[in-house]
Amino acid sequence: MSGSVIRTIGLKRDYPMGGEVVHALRGVDLEILPNEFVAIMGPSGSGKSTLMNLIGCLDTPTAGQYWLAGTEVSRMTDDELARVRNRQIGFVFQTFNLLPRATSLHNVELPLIYAGLPARERRRRAVEALASVGLGDRMDHKPAELSGGQRQRVAIARALVTEPSIILADEPTGNLDSTTSEEIMKIFEELYRGRGQTIVMVTHEADIARHAARVITLHDGVVSSDKRQAA
Ligand SMILES: Nc1ncnc2c1ncn2[C@@H]1O[C@H](COP(=O)(O)OP(=O)(O)OP(=O)(O)O)[C@@H](O)[C@H]1O
Ligand SMILES: [Mg+2]
Repeated sequence: MSGSVIRTIGLKRDYPMGGEVVHALRGVDLEILPNEFVAIMGPSGSGKSTLMNLIGCLDTPTAGQYWLAGTEVSRMTDDELARVRNRQIGFVFQTFNLLPRATSLHNVELPLIYAGLPARERRRRAVEALASVGLGDRMDHKPAELSGGQRQRVAIARALVTEPSIILADEPTGNLDSTTSEEIMKIFEELYRGRGQTIVMVTHEADIARHAARVITLHDGVVSSDKRQAA
């Protein structure tokens, strides 16, 4: 397992539904190395979000193993998972999930408050993260005072500010027009090329997946293809 950021072995997730069981993941083996930019594709219901929830330590598997940065997390308690999640994972969602009444700066500072950092250090890092996504001049704006693309950039700054091992993005451009989506992909490419950030992104759109260096496709709860491409 050493060397990989994400390693799953025979990962399964069943959802009991009344008398039946939905086999959302039926044995996923994955290895993702540091500084990979991976897109996860596949039809609706193929298990993409279920897999992202497991990778993001928001859920635990029914069977199989999950190693995150060399530590097995598949058997951790909820408290342990929450700690790993705060330290190692930055989330970017389709719907941004920003606090509506808080400024960009405060939204980005928030994970550092949970991490217990002193105020000056928090501010310094939040300012730096916002500047790195080109929002140095929008620190005092609230989400409603920003465009969709700017909101998503605040969300990316918030994901980055804790310096996580991986950034997980579930359809990060799902609510954006194509021009704005390209801007967001440019930021992901900068993070991946410039900072060596590991990024795992779910998308339905081939034009978005094209920006990744590797495309993993799920079908019916298993990996049906895994291809590297010129990004
Ligand atoms: N909480 C749940 N309880 C029961 N079944 C679920 C639950 N979550 C997902 N499923 C089922 O598991 C399967 C995989 O769902 P999942 O949300 O992972 O798909 P997806 O690939 O993300 O789809 P989409 O592209 O539509 O977002 C589906 O058949 C779904 O109905
Ligand atoms: Mg989904």
